[in-house]
Amino acid sequence: MAQPSPSSTPTAGPPASELDPLRDAAANAGRWVGAAVQSGLLAGEPEYADTVARHFNYVTAEWEMKMDPIARVQGQYDFAGADAIVAFAEAHGMKVKGHALLWHGATPAWVGDLAPAEARRVAEAYIRTVVSRYRGRVAAWDVVNEAVAEDGSGLRDTVFLRKLGPDYVAEAFRLARGADPQALLIYNDYGGEGSGVKSDRIYELVRDLRARRVPIDGVGLQMHIEAGGYPQPDEMAANVRRLVELGLVVNVSEMDVRIRNVPGTQSARLDAQRRTYRDVVAACIAQPRCHAVTFWGFTDRYSWVDGFFGPDDPLLFDEAYRAKPAFFGVQDALLGR
Ligand code: XIL
Repeated sequence: MAQPSPSSTPTAGPPASELDPLRDAAANAGRWVGAAVQSGLLAGEPEYADTVARHFNYVTAEWEMKMDPIARVQGQYDFAGADAIVAFAEAHGMKVKGHALLWHGATPAWVGDLAPAEARRVAEAYIRTVVSRYRGRVAAWDVVNEAVAEDGSGLRDTVFLRKLGPDYVAEAFRLARGADPQALLIYNDYGGEGSGVKSDRIYELVRDLRARRVPIDGVGLQMHIEAGGYPQPDEMAANVRRLVELGLVVNVSEMDVRIRNVPGTQSARLDAQRRTYRDVVAACIAQPRCHAVTFWGFTDRYSWVDGFFGPDDPLLFDEAYRAKPAFFGVQDALLGR
């Protein structure tokens, strides 16, 4: 996870340490600006830690607050990575988003072997234990992540659906609220940022939860996207509006912008990326209840995109912690330019 990216795109932008902090621009706009981080890099790479501290007022664990790392061994909890990230945030006046309580993509293998009644006890104990440990210290939790099927046909077929039944989503929110009444409780997913079948299904899921008085406060739009593609800003604005009309807050939760398939020169690709970052962040800023934007990393030196989609340069800073055009696109949006 912490391997430097294989691709390298030196740019001549100023170093992160010399730029006006993004977090100041965000605070002036009344928003949280965040990044997903890894505790090993916070502890081991000063430029990494300094960039996080300078530019962000919100952090999320890229991996270490998921069930697989916390509950890798049945019957034991390991909070080392999560504690380190929360401590870093507190030392630098940042808020924390916990990510994510129930996600099929980071569930320890042993959960799959449990009988349904035992799986229910384990899931309940897990949510209570983790949320109460960070009660008052985690501002928001992604309670359920990616529960809607890829094609928008209904709930995704996961270990939680099979063992706990379709009401597991509502139950997870109730348990989380019981363990920390103050934290914002969020449903998080991808492919529901703009218009489309999956976006509609996510909307219907959270509308149903609200109608049943299930304690859900918000929706996270992951925003792992390609420059110039989905979602179009007007479609995103309309989608955010309908979610807000349900009484929810919205956040952009995992933004990165791929450019490898954009035609033209690298400089044209970086410009397209700048526009996409600007347009998405501006669409959030335009809606007062879009309270936060989190990027899924911040330096092209470390991005999950390289491993998952292929080598790319999806983030705000290059491998040497210099600002890319994308950084200025975000800055412009936060400053209302
Ligand atoms: C990814 C991390 O970036 C990787 O390092 C890890 O190996 C797998 O998880 N949607 C999510 C995130 O909600 O938790 C995922 O993060 C990316 C997709």
